[in-house]
Amino acid sequence: MKITAITPRQILDSRGNPTLEVDFSVQNQVYRAAVPSGASTGTHEAVELRDGKPAYHGKGVQKTIAHVKKLAKKIKAKTFTTQNQFDGFLLQQDGTPTKKKLGANTLLALSLAFARGHAGKKRLYADLAEALKKTPRLPLPFANVLNGGRHAGTPLKIQEFMVVPVGAKTFSEATQMVSEVYHSLKKDAVQKFGASAGNVGDEGGIAPPLQNTRQALDLIWRAVEENGYSQKMALALDCAASEFYERGTYYVDGKHITPAELTQYYLDLHGQYRFISLEDPFHEESFTEFGVLTRLLRGKAQVVGDDLTVTNPRRILQAKKSCSALLLKVNQIGTLSESFAAAKTAESLGWNVMVSHRSGETEDAFISDLATALACGQIKLGAPARGERTAKYNQLLRIEEDGVKLKLFSLPH
Ligand code: PGA
Ligand code: ZN
Repeated sequence: MKITAITPRQILDSRGNPTLEVDFSVQNQVYRAAVPSGASTGTHEAVELRDGKPAYHGKGVQKTIAHVKKLAKKIKAKTFTTQNQFDGFLLQQDGTPTKKKLGANTLLALSLAFARGHAGKKRLYADLAEALKKTPRLPLPFANVLNGGRHAGTPLKIQEFMVVPVGAKTFSEATQMVSEVYHSLKKDAVQKFGASAGNVGDEGGIAPPLQNTRQALDLIWRAVEENGYSQKMALALDCAASEFYERGTYYVDGKHITPAELTQYYLDLHGQYRFISLEDPFHEESFTEFGVLTRLLRGKAQVVGDDLTVTNPRRILQAKKSCSALLLKVNQIGTLSESFAAAKTAESLGWNVMVSHRSGETEDAFISDLATALACGQIKLGAPARGERTAKYNQLLRIEEDGVKLKLFSLPH
């Protein structure tokens, strides 16, 4: 593959912060990719390079643009055939374990644009699946319908309250179920707490002024029941617990509690609400506590590593006994090849894999094709509202037209 032009630009993400987008020209066609950005980021994520200058309150990405321009000369002078080869070149140019020299955002924009260029006229998911030697499968949406924590600014400490349409037969049906529940939930919240309860957080979920977790779960479950989906829908949580951890204790539902008390808190919640997935229940270094809960919930719910594992094969192996599922975020590691390696490592441990967006997103729906190609069966993509979130749902609806089947949910063994 011969890349003839590379154009980087600074665009805005869904929170209105600058981010990097790159265009590749290959045989007179333009292939584009943009980089997302987190708010509750893990300490061990690869480095997101920002300018630190007054413009955009320090969040500009002009440095990444300068890096892309420099790399562009070298890239255009070479011919690359595979993603591995291209990403290998990027890693060699950076040469640091954290990508701090060039920035994970610089590398990711190039890596994803390369994948699109490589696919050419072929569907992106089909080209990726071929390289992975997988049969593409549509993922089940994990829809964050109620936002808390850093994404909402309400007293709710748990960050994400998700519904999962486990009984759906197709992705279209899954989308319909999620959308109907989302709108009922919004209506109920407005009725109960007033018009502002329908305002949304960073991932498009409503952000009502609730005090505790059970209130949120009750409100969501009522919306599920109103639509007659209680047998076909399940709940899932992303606690993002690093955000409410301080010096050995967790502050949740108005109380400071110990890790052991938090474990019991999750078990009690599971007893009542039967959630099927629990992400980052403890702070990002708590390998042991994660492991205890994973064992206690085995066969009942998957325990997902996000800030703990940061899509990094080394951290995933370290967390071998700590989780039963991987949250896969391409910008946590910085290249597509390394994201594939992370998924492979997780699979080799018998874990499930969930591809994920970030709270700061763009219109780029790369992750929809990625989740389909990985055939991992799970994608976290926010509420079925706001353009940067619906872009992902809509791409999956288009992929379904090709006859790709939805993968059914199953718990890790
Ligand atoms: P982030 O949140 O994108 O702000 O990190 C998503 C998550 O914690 O999963
Ligand atoms: Zn998370």
